[in-house]
Amino acid sequence: MAAEKKHFIRLINDDCRTYLRQIPDQSIDLILTDPPYNIAQYSTGNIPLPGRSAVNNDLGSWDLNDINPQDFVADFKRVLKPDGNIFIFTSYNLLGKWHAAFDPEFDTFQYFIWHKTNPMPKIYKNGFLNSCEMIVCLWNKGHKWNFSTQREMHNFFECPICMGQERWKAPKHPAQKPLKLLRHLITIASNENDVILDPFMGVGSTGVAALQLQRSFIGCEIEPDFYVATQQRIHQALAQQDSQQAYQKMDQQQFSAAGPGTFSNL
Ligand SMILES: C[S@@+](CC[C@H](N)C(=O)[O-])C[C@H]1O[C@@H](n2cnc3c(N)ncnc32)[C@H](O)[C@@H]1O
Repeated sequence: MAAEKKHFIRLINDDCRTYLRQIPDQSIDLILTDPPYNIAQYSTGNIPLPGRSAVNNDLGSWDLNDINPQDFVADFKRVLKPDGNIFIFTSYNLLGKWHAAFDPEFDTFQYFIWHKTNPMPKIYKNGFLNSCEMIVCLWNKGHKWNFSTQREMHNFFECPICMGQERWKAPKHPAQKPLKLLRHLITIASNENDVILDPFMGVGSTGVAALQLQRSFIGCEIEPDFYVATQQRIHQALAQQDSQQAYQKMDQQQFSAAGPGTFSNL
């Protein structure tokens, strides 16, 4: 007999500052999230690239609303299980604020580097390429960790930015993260059937990676277009896994009472 599926997926279209308050205490194994970097403010307009479309730091209106890490520390701490982990993508301009807000509240604050093997080129050789992104890592004593080799313990991972089939087209999300990187982080910091939360899910990359690794997922996104794109991506990922019938509908309000094998909002 096939093993019972215990994981569920819940997608929310809301401001996560509101939604986080509804998540029960100590119910999340891993918070893996990619909040806005607030870099649109540094945009100097279109930057032409040889043979490619121009790029611009102005990612969209969603990047303009100031992210204040202090607004999230109480809820992230409250919802995380005592053996849970937190990974937060961030940028040079916000790293200090994440540290100031979160370091006093957790046993360990480290950073992890994602090196992009195919960063945007620069025409003028007058500065570094933007080939690295930082991920803040937090945990308390007794956290779960699944390292099997010393190599996996490097706080560094290399892979390309997502391209081709993986890049969602309608709508495109300028900050879509690659599944390979997300699967690496999820694998080392959680177990099968654990619950993963992404309060800033964009087009749902963390959710797809969680699904592929048999984890449960709760994701929140404020922009309706990205929320709908996530629903479509999750459906597609489920169809690819041929496991859709293993899930049942779950009412949005029923999370705290959710039993095994539930699949919400799709
Ligand atoms: C950097 S993007 C995440 C991209 C995501 N990692 C992916 O691969 O698609 C950040 C997302 O957070 C959303 N966002 C911004 N403020 C939010 C809020 N208060 N609540 C929920 N989502 C928010 C933005 O609309 C944006 O899609």
